[in-house]
Amino acid sequence: MEIRKVGVVGLGQMGLGVVQAVAGAGFDTVAVKATPGAADPIRGKLEKDLGKLVEKGKMEGAAKDALLSRVRFTSTEADLKDCSLVIESIVEDLSIKQALFKRLEGIVSKDAILASNTSTLSITALMSVCAKRDRVAGLHFFNPATVMKLVDTAAGLAAIRHCGGLAVTASIDQMSFHAPAHVGDLIHIRASVNDVGRTSIEVGVRVEAENIVTGDRMHTSSAYIVMVAVDEHGRPRPVPPLVVESDTQRRRQREARLRRESRLAHERSIESARAEVDPRD
Ligand SMILES: CC(C)(COP(=O)(O)OP(=O)(O)OC[C@H]1O[C@@H](n2cnc3c(N)ncnc32)[C@H](O)[C@@H]1OP(=O)(O)O)[C@@H](O)C(=O)NCCC(=O)NCCS
Repeated sequence: MEIRKVGVVGLGQMGLGVVQAVAGAGFDTVAVKATPGAADPIRGKLEKDLGKLVEKGKMEGAAKDALLSRVRFTSTEADLKDCSLVIESIVEDLSIKQALFKRLEGIVSKDAILASNTSTLSITALMSVCAKRDRVAGLHFFNPATVMKLVDTAAGLAAIRHCGGLAVTASIDQMSFHAPAHVGDLIHIRASVNDVGRTSIEVGVRVEAENIVTGDRMHTSSAYIVMVAVDEHGRPRPVPPLVVESDTQRRRQREARLRRESRLAHERSIESARAEVDPRD
């Protein structure tokens, strides 16, 4: 069966990410708000998120407009009737999801696939309430928290390799999510040491999700993490200097220094603002 129109039910952070991925892949998308209230403000949110990608040069303005033109936002489940695939991304509550699947069976055609984005509930339990069980599938998109954990682990490994000992995460200077990755994708995580201070190491991490069938790769996330090398008592200890050789490495080091300067300036301004409010602090 050819999938032409895709429905997404539930437009929280995860659901909206799914809408972006589906419409971005060229499918007409029906985005259904699952909780009470109008769906229009959510279109505004997606428009704003995509606008940021355009500003940063990560998406063409025309691609943004085309993506948005493919999405119909609605609060009415009946609008899903022509969808050949519906992905639910509503609250993680089995009885609420089961009730939704039962209603969906009364709306979509007999061949439509009903998929759940759940990461914790049993797909079999969802199937059990459906008349046509073989149409129910699991399609879990990675939660941002899962990606963050992988990113932190990769950054830690890069830092440990550089300093030859223990390192702890001091801060995540930036973590951006460009597109969702879903289970079944091959996740590539590349971590590189961008710059070092006396005891700190800035690591840049890039995450890409590869569709193992088509081989297509999507840039999913980027992060900049400051790790600090510590001794056995948890006290900061000096790290070896970084040898930068290529133009790319020099650019990364320059940018890391800018991030460090802006972080320190931010900390100083917060401290002075606090001192003004309460000089005894
Ligand atoms: C990170 C940590 C070791 C720093 O200790 P500290 O006594 O504040 O250290 P200092 O003030 O001497 O600073 C040491 C380095 O850390 C850097 N640093 C400290 N706090 C930082 C922060 N919030 N963000 C970024 N860098 C920071 C400093 O810039 C300095 O870098 P430099 O030596 O290259 O100039 C300490 O705060 C810590 O143990 N934090 C908990 C870490 C943790 O539990 N992480 C999560 C689990 S791994």
